[in-house]
Amino acid sequence: MNPETPVVHSGRPSLLRNWLSLTGLVVVIGSLFSTLLLFIMDTMAHGSNPYIGILTYCVAPFFFISGSILTLIGVIREKRKLGQVAGEGWPKMVVDLSRTRDRRMMAFFLTGAVLFLLLSAVGSYHTYHFTESVTFCGEACHTVMEPELVTYQHGPHARVPCTECHIGSGAKWFVKAKISGSYQLYAVAFDKYPRPVPTPIKNLRPAQDTCEQCHWPAKFVGNLERTFNYHLANETNTPFAVRVLMHVGGGDPTHGPVGGIHWHMNVGKKTEYIAAKFEQGSWVPDATRQSIPWVRTVDDQGVIKEFRKKSFTNDVAGFEIRTMDCMDCHNRPAHRYKTPNEAVDLAMTLGSIDSDLHWIKSNAVAALTQTYTNETQALQAIATTLTQKYPNEPRIRPAINAVQKIYSENFFPEMKADWSSYPDNIGHMEWPGCFRCHDGLHKADDGKQSIKASDCNACHTLLAQGSGDELNKLNPGGMTFTHPGDELDENPTCHECHTGGL
Ligand code: HEC
Ligand code: HEC
Ligand code: HEC
Ligand code: HEC
Ligand code: HEC
Ligand code: HEC
Repeated sequence: MNPETPVVHSGRPSLLRNWLSLTGLVVVIGSLFSTLLLFIMDTMAHGSNPYIGILTYCVAPFFFISGSILTLIGVIREKRKLGQVAGEGWPKMVVDLSRTRDRRMMAFFLTGAVLFLLLSAVGSYHTYHFTESVTFCGEACHTVMEPELVTYQHGPHARVPCTECHIGSGAKWFVKAKISGSYQLYAVAFDKYPRPVPTPIKNLRPAQDTCEQCHWPAKFVGNLERTFNYHLANETNTPFAVRVLMHVGGGDPTHGPVGGIHWHMNVGKKTEYIAAKFEQGSWVPDATRQSIPWVRTVDDQGVIKEFRKKSFTNDVAGFEIRTMDCMDCHNRPAHRYKTPNEAVDLAMTLGSIDSDLHWIKSNAVAALTQTYTNETQALQAIATTLTQKYPNEPRIRPAINAVQKIYSENFFPEMKADWSSYPDNIGHMEWPGCFRCHDGLHKADDGKQSIKASDCNACHTLLAQGSGDELNKLNPGGMTFTHPGDELDENPTCHECHTGGL
């Protein structure tokens, strides 16, 4: 054997023999074991537990990586120290595959490397999927996301993962979401998040990339029949209903006549608007998009029609112009907080609250609209108030259960989230909604033509109203609305009286 060949550096202290590297190694081995254990638990568990998921796919990998970095830093420092003492560089490494020992080492190293890559691939795949799951988005930060999770579970999109609407596909939005997600983790950890979580969400991905991946905008919907059931707030809780034919229509001429409500969909044309409110003598941007003084439509030939409120004389260049999309009407497709009125009406119509109990409509709504600090207190208070109002009345028990259920599903005092914190733009009853533009006050330049407004049969045909048999006598041509409250003005703003509560 050539005496110059460095064989084994048996006499040399191992570079791993320092506190930093040893600590790192312990962390790495520990995290590997716990990952394995957690992974088995996660696979065997019924349903998914957000905390096991977080531990397996976020915390354990974090420790694994930190441990590896620690080990490496220790090795580098140790190397420097040795280098300074002995004045030499890195030990020379010669791999000679004709030697059995080197071959074994090589095989060992390759197997190890392949195994490691495989495991980290599986690990990252699971981590990716986990951070995209409803469990992670909705359940992991329990209190913060509870309102959105609960309302989502009761909505039409309960089977659509959060990320389909909030992130969509593609690397750019994935990275954006992870960056804002990291900030949100920080905000939750240090209790720096706003309550309620504000909407409209800034930089929400445009509907073209999310909603329209499932809902084809060219689809022709036509007319949809809807019955709205109410009970008046009087002693006998008089039932009252309105049957309408919603003119949803369509926006694409190859699939049906263009017209109706979905005329607004951006097939070939667009509707643009400015959201601004009048405050202290001037128009300032309205982040909530509830006040809209200026609108224009641009059709496929480029013909522009502009409408504005008389008081809005400002130059449009000073404001952000937004193009209308699905979310300007369907802004609560997944998280609808029912109003106390609507929820109690529904429960009475379904019979879970007995409508023979005198004044039950008003009393139930009143119990729901008090201010409570947390859910436990609210549920107790609801039970106490209603029991006191209806002494010796066995039918109040199921009614209390129903009211408590309404509360749990629609009110989230810890997050200050309920119907009153989130405008719903789809109609015009409790929020300005369509009447933000269709209020008869938005005029074209000639001052005469306005956006279709006060005609109650323009967006829907009023087929019937009242109760019992009256609801079966249909008026296909539409009828005049007889308001159960006071007589209405020419351009009524329903939401000023109908707040959803009392
Ligand atoms: C069908 C699409 C869709 C799905 C699925 C969905 N969201 Fe949303 N989400 C929205 C829209 C639209 C808004 C309101 C956006 C706006 O007004 O700017 C919203 C708003 C929110 C908000 C802001 C607060 C609020 O209530 O407006 C949070 C937080 C949120 N979603 C979390 C979630 C979580 C968690 C899930 C899954 C459990 C989820 N979302 C599933 C469409 C969706
Ligand atoms: C991953 C597919 C998917 C995405 C993304 C999606 N939806 Fe849906 N949406 C559905 C399905 C499926 C239904 C039908 C649910 C049913 O009838 O059971 C539905 C139903 C609806 C309905 C009818 C609701 C009702 O009360 O019957 C509306 C309105 C709607 N979606 C709007 C939206 C909007 C707005 C967005 C974007 C924020 C969106 N959807 C994103 C799949 C999706
Ligand atoms: C001008 C407001 C407006 C816009 C913009 C709008 N919609 Fe609608 N859409 C409505 C109304 C109103 C209804 C009837 C809903 C009702 O009465 O419950 C409806 C109904 C629907 C339905 C239910 C149809 C059914 O068969 O049950 C779906 C799905 C839907 N819209 C999807 C979309 C999508 C996707 C977009 C964006 C490409 C969009 N809408 C844009 C107002 C709008
Ligand atoms: C941002 C302003 C804006 C909002 C919000 C809005 N619209 Fe419109 N809408 C318009 C404008 C502008 C027109 C076109 C008026 C014209 O050309 O005379 C229009 C036209 C219509 C038409 C007539 C389409 C046709 O066949 O000519 C219907 C129906 C309609 N809107 C329904 C609705 C409903 C329902 C809502 C609420 C869910 C709504 N709009 C919300 C601005 C708006
Ligand atoms: C710009 C279009 C438009 C005009 C004009 C309009 N409506 Fe509506 N209306 C709607 C839409 C959209 C809904 C459906 C809301 C929903 O799906 O929850 C609705 C719902 C309703 C409801 C049920 C409300 C609820 O949520 O309980 C009543 C009642 C009603 N309209 C009456 C009227 C009357 C009365 C007029 C005339 C003063 C009128 N509407 C004019 C679009 C319109
Ligand atoms: C000046 C206030 C005011 C305005 C504006 C107003 N309402 Fe009402 N509305 C009332 C009152 C008061 C009642 C009776 C409430 C009761 O007894 O429950 C009522 C009852 C109703 C009911 C019966 C169901 C219920 O919730 O009690 C409907 C439906 C209704 N209004 C629709 C509308 C529509 C649609 C508009 C706008 C076009 C409108 N209202 C505008 C005050 C108003």
